[in-house]
Amino acid sequence: MDAEHASTTRGPVAVALGATVTRAPGATVLPATGAPAVSASGATVLTETGAPREGGLLDRFGRVATDLRVSVIDKCNLRCTYCMPADGMPWLPQSQLMSTDEIRRIVRVAVRSLGAEELRLTGGEPLVRKDLEFIIAGIREDNPDLPISMTTNAVGLDRRAQALKDAGLNRLNVSLDTLHPETFAELTRRPHLDKVLAGLQAARAAGLGPIKINAVLLRGVNDTEVVPLVDWAVTNGFEMRFIEDMPLDGDRSWTATNVIAASDIRAEIETAFALAPDPRGRGAAPAERWEVRRPGETAVAGHVGIISSVTEPFCAACTRTRVTADGKVRSCLFSHEETDLLSTLRAGADDDGIAQVWRDAMWAKPRAHGSDRVGLARPDFVQPERTMSAIGG
Ligand code: GTP
Ligand code: 5AD
Ligand code: SF4
Repeated sequence: MDAEHASTTRGPVAVALGATVTRAPGATVLPATGAPAVSASGATVLTETGAPREGGLLDRFGRVATDLRVSVIDKCNLRCTYCMPADGMPWLPQSQLMSTDEIRRIVRVAVRSLGAEELRLTGGEPLVRKDLEFIIAGIREDNPDLPISMTTNAVGLDRRAQALKDAGLNRLNVSLDTLHPETFAELTRRPHLDKVLAGLQAARAAGLGPIKINAVLLRGVNDTEVVPLVDWAVTNGFEMRFIEDMPLDGDRSWTATNVIAASDIRAEIETAFALAPDPRGRGAAPAERWEVRRPGETAVAGHVGIISSVTEPFCAACTRTRVTADGKVRSCLFSHEETDLLSTLRAGADDDGIAQVWRDAMWAKPRAHGSDRVGLARPDFVQPERTMSAIGG
């Protein structure tokens, strides 16, 4: 373990317009590469970083974050083993959660001042928020053309799909790892497969497509379901995606040797289907997409995506910026640093002030997997303090 990642104890290193940036002790301070950044109030902001003072969310490696992921709540109604401990987590108190209006403001700043081009709402489980329809309607009112998607487990979606669509939601990704009720109950620690399937049906009926299905593959649990899941998804018009298990679980029991590698997933799919690279390419997406054909057929039956964070990382093309449900910017899924955007907003900062705090946070985005080195399977990789459920994926 190296000094940068040796401790999760955090100390404030810079303050601007009420924002506190926390950084693990010993974290690298980057040399200045430009003029000192100056806030609207004239205060010097993160002068050591050389972050830009206008434009979008550029980082030190030339990437520009245009893909905004906002977690609206940390709570979830499932307890997936790869994500949360059986007893759940210490949930955020209501006062620390971004309000409907605060989420709306943060998205508006991201779109108008920082060039965000698309929004994904995440949780925890976003449907746990009773005001989700209002959140989406407000964002839609401010941003008529913004593509808005959501990642959900679909429990309770059957009753809300149409209202979400009417509020302005465009499309959904649904987490579903198995088609067997017993495996579902074992993996999520809740007996709700029927609710997820009802939610999916309602989402399709409401026109919330294209719908993608996310399955995290776990050795000895659902790894025999690759072909049945592809078959089911293709038959139902969903895009099936397989995700390599990442070290973001609440139990902290992840091991690299348990990861089912993308190459093995492709080989397994090819026992029953023909795969060809999707000619539309991948862009900055986490998923590498493939066309699926049934044996002996020339027509494309559907698509699958494989998200290979561990064995084939895709960080060099990353365009993502994240805001947690308590309003902290995470420049990377695996960040060891967060920047408190919500306190900046609550301290009365104007849009320019909020935007600059965000720019500074993203400038410091690590090269890959929360570090300037690469590799989730490295011996010195340290899992971030926040688990997947508190980040939103
Ligand atoms: P689409 O725009 O529909 O392709 O969505 P998406 O794949 O970006 O989002 P989704 O929330 O469905 O995420 C699917 C999986 O990809 C989840 O396990 C995420 O944690 C993972 N993922 C999303 N973004 C990143 C990322 O920036 N880095 C890594 N390593 N994994 C990511
Ligand atoms: N590794 C990979 N993906 C995960 N997800 C949750 N936890 C993990 C993990 N440890 C996925 C969920 C959901 C998405 C937001 O992240 O399946 O679809
Ligand atoms: Fe981007 Fe970090 Fe994900 Fe890599 S791990 S793709 S840098 S968010």
